[in-house]
Amino acid sequence: MTPKNVLISKSRLAKRVRELAREIERDFRDKDLVVVAVLSGTVIFLADLIREMRIPLHLDFIGVSSYRSGTTSGKLRLNRDIRLSVKGRSVLIVEDILDTGKTLHHVIKVVRRLKPAEIKVCVLLNKSTRRTSPVEADYSGFYIPDKFVVGYGLDFAEQYRNLPHVAVLSKP
Ligand code: IMP
Ligand code: MG
Repeated sequence: MTPKNVLISKSRLAKRVRELAREIERDFRDKDLVVVAVLSGTVIFLADLIREMRIPLHLDFIGVSSYRSGTTSGKLRLNRDIRLSVKGRSVLIVEDILDTGKTLHHVIKVVRRLKPAEIKVCVLLNKSTRRTSPVEADYSGFYIPDKFVVGYGLDFAEQYRNLPHVAVLSKP
């Protein structure tokens, strides 16, 4: 399998990330913001997004792994817990892609237990036709079709995260 088809170019990513940062800045300007990024697919998007945000923020990470085999979705487990206190603060969860919604549903549940003042969700990519869990994003970079994509942080078996664009993974 090789990523051939560019779905979202480097320049479109940069432009949209700037727009998202402007929106988020406006909404969180006077708030005590903790950005909680879901590892590891968010790292590149996150680095670009927060450098465009000209407001104070704290940064933390959460790690989730799934025991997924084939198309059957397995149980989700935390492998990296939030370390900052988020109680009474505004949390922005950052995720690479919203697909079925299972991952974000789980992450939101975990964050909610920590009693933040509010929880908002920002995703780079949104496959809205795939949803099985009741989750929506407050900020979505791009709505994309039901195709497996890689690059700009997203992987296939830990490969292709360093592509500067988002590509559809196609069979050679
Ligand atoms: P969900 O739990 O089904 O919403 O899936 C979200 C997680 O599945 C993301 O955090 C990604 O790690 C992974 N994922 C879903 N679709 C893709 C894709 O097209 N490319 C790479 N990873 C994906
Ligand atoms: Mg992920």
